[in-house]
Amino acid sequence: MVKLDLSGAQDFFGAIGPDYAKISDAHRKLFAHSGEGSEYTGWMELPARVLENELKAISACAAKIRSGSQALVVIGIGGSYLGARAAIDLLRSPNYNLIKKDTPDIFFMGNGLSSAAIGETIALIGDRDFSVNVISKSGGTLEPALSFRVFKSLLEKKYGSAAKKRIFATTDEKKGLLHDMAAGAGWERFTVPEDVGGRFSVLSAVGLLPMAVAGIDIERVIRAAVSEMHDLDLRSVENPAWRYAGTRQHLYMNGRSIEILASYEPSFRFMAEWWKQLFGESEGKNGIGIFPASVEYTADLHAMGQYVQDGPRRLIETVVSFENGARSLKVPFELGDRDKLNYLAGREFSDIAALAARAVASAHIKGEVPNISISVPERNEEGFAALVCFFEMSCALSAYASGVNPFDQPGVEAYKSNMFRLLGRQ
Ligand code: PA5
Repeated sequence: MVKLDLSGAQDFFGAIGPDYAKISDAHRKLFAHSGEGSEYTGWMELPARVLENELKAISACAAKIRSGSQALVVIGIGGSYLGARAAIDLLRSPNYNLIKKDTPDIFFMGNGLSSAAIGETIALIGDRDFSVNVISKSGGTLEPALSFRVFKSLLEKKYGSAAKKRIFATTDEKKGLLHDMAAGAGWERFTVPEDVGGRFSVLSAVGLLPMAVAGIDIERVIRAAVSEMHDLDLRSVENPAWRYAGTRQHLYMNGRSIEILASYEPSFRFMAEWWKQLFGESEGKNGIGIFPASVEYTADLHAMGQYVQDGPRRLIETVVSFENGARSLKVPFELGDRDKLNYLAGREFSDIAALAARAVASAHIKGEVPNISISVPERNEEGFAALVCFFEMSCALSAYASGVNPFDQPGVEAYKSNMFRLLGRQ
């Protein structure tokens, strides 16, 4: 499980601390599958189900893609996109396509409507062999559907009838446009389980197939997630998900309406994007909810640091770290010491970063920003699984405790109906 340190937040609790009775009630509802939106709580059993039923097929398909393609275009948006991208950045590299590797380049498409982005990806693929993994639970989301049309037609031009062996569809098991197209054309299909919403689906084929193609050990991820989900069913304040959810809600009731998720690892950027969607779409409804934002340290200390230290006191700062950072780069010694840095010569960058993080946290706490610290031992498959399970569980508990249904997103429909009206859809 993740380690949660609330010592930087407790001074902001006031006379009465978090309401754990509410969190306990939320936990009971969640595990009894009896709360609002309970038809979408399959994510709690998802790792165990995937291990038993789908993991082998996903791994075999990934091996096939790796051997026959130099590039994979992953088409999806929101929950059908962010988890895979977060995992590949975190566990392989934020420069994944640039590093030397024996796995295909991966391009994420369908998460916008930019023709420049599509054109650039087509140019980057060039005349290399490629495959497409199109991901959409509903099967009808406009952005991925449009991108898919473009890349499907490229595949058909390049490979003719053999194109169908290069299209992999991850969608609902029984219904939807994408399901029907895939079934009709004979594309290999993977399932987004009916009882799992998009933003809770990273540990299904939605996230796992692209991750496996990128060379991530998905069996390790899933085995770790099975045990994390089991451990998180702990009905006590010892449960880090209870304490995180309870603390967030308590601070929110005391005027803290923005939470910034910070990390000192550039590879964490898309984990933060995934986290923002998870909490934003689950909690921001009925006129309430903490606004989730993210910062990347130390870069943002020189951009957002002023606001964090000195702006309106509405912030909660949550910092995610990896206990055993890579220890491979020492500050070199320089004759003459013209840049006056020899006092750091021989020290590991990771140690300097850890000290910087301590200095930042204490300055921000002094500036009246409650600080929550979350850590896992390593930036590896187990660490990823621990963070995903912890955040999913905390999010569901926190949303239930605040009185909203964590598993719907009625607000997303408003832009869609305007857009379809303007586009003239019948
Ligand atoms: O969390 C969600 O449900 C959303 O973010 C969806 O994942 C997103 O809208 C994409 O939907 P779909 O997979 O149906 O294309």
